[in-house]
Amino acid sequence: MSKLYIKGGNPLIGEIKVAGNKNAALPILGATLLTDKEIVLNNLPDIIDVRRMIKLLEIVGKQITYLNKNSVRITGSISTNKLPEEYAGKLRASILLLAGLLLKTDEAFLFPPGGCVIGRRKVDSHFEMVENFGGEVSTSREGFHITLSKKKSAKIFLKEVSVTATENAMILASGIKGKSIIQNAACEPHVVDLAEFLMKIGVKIEGAGTNQIIIKGCEKLHGTNHSIVPDHIEAGTFAIAAAATKGNLIIHDAIEDHFQSMGRMLKSMNVNFQFLDKKTLHVSPSELKIIEKKLQVGLWPNFPTDLMSPAIVLATQSKGSILCHDWMFESRMFFVDKLNVMGADIIQADPHRVIVNGPTQLHGQHLSSPDIRAGIALVIAALSAHGNSIIDNIEIVDRGYEDIENRLNSLGAGIKREN
Ligand code: EPU
Repeated sequence: MSKLYIKGGNPLIGEIKVAGNKNAALPILGATLLTDKEIVLNNLPDIIDVRRMIKLLEIVGKQITYLNKNSVRITGSISTNKLPEEYAGKLRASILLLAGLLLKTDEAFLFPPGGCVIGRRKVDSHFEMVENFGGEVSTSREGFHITLSKKKSAKIFLKEVSVTATENAMILASGIKGKSIIQNAACEPHVVDLAEFLMKIGVKIEGAGTNQIIIKGCEKLHGTNHSIVPDHIEAGTFAIAAAATKGNLIIHDAIEDHFQSMGRMLKSMNVNFQFLDKKTLHVSPSELKIIEKKLQVGLWPNFPTDLMSPAIVLATQSKGSILCHDWMFESRMFFVDKLNVMGADIIQADPHRVIVNGPTQLHGQHLSSPDIRAGIALVIAALSAHGNSIIDNIEIVDRGYEDIENRLNSLGAGIKREN
């Protein structure tokens, strides 16, 4: 188990570049199963989840060559449709291999996918979607057996606006001849990036980024070269870290069009920021105060759930009280007890709602990170605190953030890792 030793109190100053979007990289890696032709992916974040997904691709038969730590060449075809529990059970995004396996081998064997423990994270929207395309699902103690012997294009209305179910539906529709329509679709930048990739390999897609996506699938798809879109959640995370530490930070590859709801959140806590151009964000020292008294997550383009935990840390440094509400995940908010141990004043009203009263001086503590986003939130809290903190279980942060201590240290943070 790795831990970070963090010296608090240093403002983050300098320039940083946002990495590629984890949640775009994972479905795009899954979609590489659609073709046996050569695919080159650039700007992949070098994080544990991406490495696990690449390992799964190798297990099912793909050949992967690392061109550098952020680029891979993928060739070869599928030789097995069984995902071993040892790997698939650790990565919820392993479900994103489902569509490719079904298209190439007519069946797939999956284990309940793993991932962060932040809620019930059901997979039934995926299975209902597959049934709409002609598939059948059976469940046993060994896991899930899904078959798709009679594929057909379909008009489907997703059970809920699920990001990965939308992505699996897009991948499946891409490999089935004919026109499919996906309604109640998720609209995140990673869904749009997946569509860009699918179009490059020969699929015709309209409406990605809206809640209705129309796909004209094709059985023979070709190779391509694609660069993963920058990660808007990482951009928002760095902006919050700069504001919470009273830093002065220029963030490159922060895409202005993806920043609308995150920008509103920063304004609602009086953070000084401006876009220098469409991809460069400048955050400067601010007198943090709560201007809007409620922050609620929503379906994209509303405020993303994955930025709620860091936003709560920012609220602890802002003058005033704010109600933070995450209706999506049942366990997202439980990490606030760790912030209270550091000196925060947060009342947990119920599993989905907390009231943060600020500003409070946080003090260094010995903590453990429970999920990716709470983990990075604790890192930001430790950077803003008086004194030293130790954060255990840092592998969970490594699942989503590349080389986090060196990147933050280049901005003046005092972080040491112990493996
Ligand atoms: N939900 C609803 N109603 C909806 C939509 C969602 O209740 O209309 C609930 C779901 O039941 C679930 C939660 O909200 O409990 C999230 O649902 P979704 O199916 O969209 O999540 P996902 O596809 O499994 C992806 C990301 C998550 C991110 C969510 C929400 C990937 C690989 N994972 O998960 O990322 O939190 O969307 O945006 O893309 C992370 O990066 O730390 C992470 C957990």
